[in-house]
Amino acid sequence: MSGQVTIGRSHEEASLEAAVFWSHRAEEAIAQRGRFIVAISGGTTPRRLFELLAVSPGIDWARCHIFWADERMAPSDDVISNFRLGWDALLSRVPIHSEQMHRVPTEIGDASAVAASYQATLLGSLSLGLFDRPRFDLVLLGLGADGHIASLFPGCSSLREERRLVVSSPPGALPPPVDRVTMTLPVINSARAIAFLVTGSDKADVLSRALRGDADLPASRVGPSDGVLRWFVDEDAAGRPAERDTPGR
Ligand code: 6PG
Repeated sequence: MSGQVTIGRSHEEASLEAAVFWSHRAEEAIAQRGRFIVAISGGTTPRRLFELLAVSPGIDWARCHIFWADERMAPSDDVISNFRLGWDALLSRVPIHSEQMHRVPTEIGDASAVAASYQATLLGSLSLGLFDRPRFDLVLLGLGADGHIASLFPGCSSLREERRLVVSSPPGALPPPVDRVTMTLPVINSARAIAFLVTGSDKADVLSRALRGDADLPASRVGPSDGVLRWFVDEDAAGRPAERDTPGR
C-alpha cells in the first residue's frame, strides 16, 4: 500500500490529474516499448476520466491496448457492463482499432468459463507463455465502499489466488448483484503502474482505512512489486484540501 496521493479540488480535477498521468504513462511506454497496455475498471467514478481521455491531445491510440481489470456478467451492451462504460465514454470516441480492445467475452458461458477464456486472451494477445504473467503499463482501479478493488471483494477466496490470472467471483455485497470476472492480485501487482481514482465523501472512510493499510480491505493488498502506485482523489474523499504543488507525472 501507500503510494503518492494527489488531491484535486473536485471530481473533475481529480479526473483531470488521472488523465494527465495516463497520458504520461502512455507516452513513456510507447517510447520505450512501442505500445501502451492498460487495464481499466468499471463503476461510476471513471466515466469523467474516460471522457477527458477521449479529448486529450497527443495519445497515440493506434499503439494502445485496452483490457478490463474486471467485468460484470452481463451482455456487453448492458448498462451495467464495464465494457459498455469504456466504449461509451472513451473507446467509441477515439481512433482505436477493435483488435486493440480486449473485452471480457461474457456471452460465452458461465463466469468460470469466461474467466478461463479471458486468461487465454491475456496470454495470447500479449504473446506470453503459459506460466508468464502480464505486465500492464497501467492498471486503473476504483475503490468500493467496502474496500473492494476490481471484483476482489472482502473475504473472497479469489484474494488468495496465486496461480491464475483471471478468476470468477460471486456477487459482492454492493450492487449490481451479478457474478463477476476479475484479474487477480498477482496480475494487478505486476503492473508497472497502478492508479486509483477515488472521489466523493462516501469514500472518505474507506479511503482513509485503505491508505492506512487496513488488513481487512482488499485495497490494502494492492502494491506493485516493481512499479508505482498513485492515488487520484478529490477533497471530499481525502477529507482535506487539495495540494496544489503535486505533479501530474
Ligand atoms: C466494478 C469495479 C469496481 C469499482 C468500484 C468503485 O465493476 O464495479 O470495477 O471495482 O471500481 O466498485 O465503483 P464506483 O466508482 O461505482 O464507486
